[in-house]
Amino acid sequence: MRTGVWLVGARGSVATTSVVGALALRAGLAGPTGCVTELPDLRGPALPAFTDLVFGGHDVATTPLAKRAEALADAGVLPARLVAALTDELAAVERALRPAPAGGTQADRAAATVRDLTEFRSRHGLDRVVVVNVSATEPAARPHPAHVDPDALPTALAGPDEVLPPSSLYAYAAVRAGCPYVDFTPSTGLRLPALAALAVRRGIPYAGHDGKTGETLVKSVLAPMFAMRHLAVRSWSGVNLLGGGDGATLADPAANAAKVESKQRVLGETLGYLPQGGTRIEYVEALGDFKTAWDLVTFAGFLGTGMRMEFTWHGCDSALAAPLVLDLARLTAAAHAAGHAGPLADLAFFFKDPLDTATHSLSEQWNRLCGFARRLHAGGGADAPRH
Ligand SMILES: NC(=O)c1ccc[n+]([C@@H]2O[C@H](COP(=O)([O-])OP(=O)(O)OC[C@H]3O[C@@H](n4cnc5c(N)ncnc54)[C@H](O)[C@@H]3O)[C@@H](O)[C@H]2O)c1
Repeated sequence: MRTGVWLVGARGSVATTSVVGALALRAGLAGPTGCVTELPDLRGPALPAFTDLVFGGHDVATTPLAKRAEALADAGVLPARLVAALTDELAAVERALRPAPAGGTQADRAAATVRDLTEFRSRHGLDRVVVVNVSATEPAARPHPAHVDPDALPTALAGPDEVLPPSSLYAYAAVRAGCPYVDFTPSTGLRLPALAALAVRRGIPYAGHDGKTGETLVKSVLAPMFAMRHLAVRSWSGVNLLGGGDGATLADPAANAAKVESKQRVLGETLGYLPQGGTRIEYVEALGDFKTAWDLVTFAGFLGTGMRMEFTWHGCDSALAAPLVLDLARLTAAAHAAGHAGPLADLAFFFKDPLDTATHSLSEQWNRLCGFARRLHAGGGADAPRH
């Protein structure tokens, strides 16, 4: 199954690490550590092989992909020997990257995006193209009446207003081009009723939102433990310090608010109440693509005895995110091939703010993902799509 992976934000850290990782796997230069679709519970014939993945994408930036990869190697995110060994393969991906459509109305930009996607699909003889948003986090969308009416969208987009935020315009174009869509970011993307209705109408599956790679991943393991032991969490406070392009974007209070909201949801929905405290994100340029999170949890046990726990997470964000991008591309492609349409709630395992499910416990999400993969590999889904 030749599968295109179209990265929105193709020159960013997560995208570049995903491309270098997939090329290294394909060349046998690296193993699949971090790719959950290579675990025995998930691996199987329904998924496209790493050798079947072909990369393209859009970006507003113009820095060559090879230069971005070298910068990530200098920062200790990627092994320099891999980047050096993959020069020709990176040049081939560079030729498949396109500038983010600009100018004209939003309808013009959506049409240009659809053209880029269909041209990529036919030029490379691909069975399908999965569009993955790994672009910079946006502020929350400003409401517009066309957000709830799929039939009003074409006229609204042809007017002078910016009706959709950029992530949603890409999602709209993906659906129009018949491409499954994954949102690895907290941006609006396909989360508008008009776009969700269009996706179902056109038989497009989609997954999101906001990859779960660090502090929230740990929270989704620990919060169910407190709930299952009937311990009362009194407060949960976290501080996240990060650099890199994502950190710089999140220095903007509006983008920061979108991220913080998606990071807190896990607690409310797992515990059934929101303990005191919040999550702070701060930009520390010197940290580059590495992130440090400190969390302090205070809780009460039997007879109200107060206790506390703390944890510190030092993660390399792009190295944690990139294998999940590859997993999501493979699983979403397989879901599309099996006839699934609409939100893929079975992929909640990957996200901070999963679509269409209130299940935030990592172990429950894992069981659900394994069942989904089993059904895909057994050839299930095409006749009886599960939404
Ligand atoms: N790394 C992680 O662990 C992790 C986890 C969850 C979510 N995310 C999300 O993934 C996204 C990417 O993170 P990153 O570290 O690669 O950030 P980054 O800043 O390195 O990359 C973002 C890229 O998007 C591009 N871009 C911005 N606006 C665009 C537009 N309108 N069209 C096309 N491209 C555009 C930028 O030029 C840049 O190349 C962020 O939204 C981040 O919040 C990352």
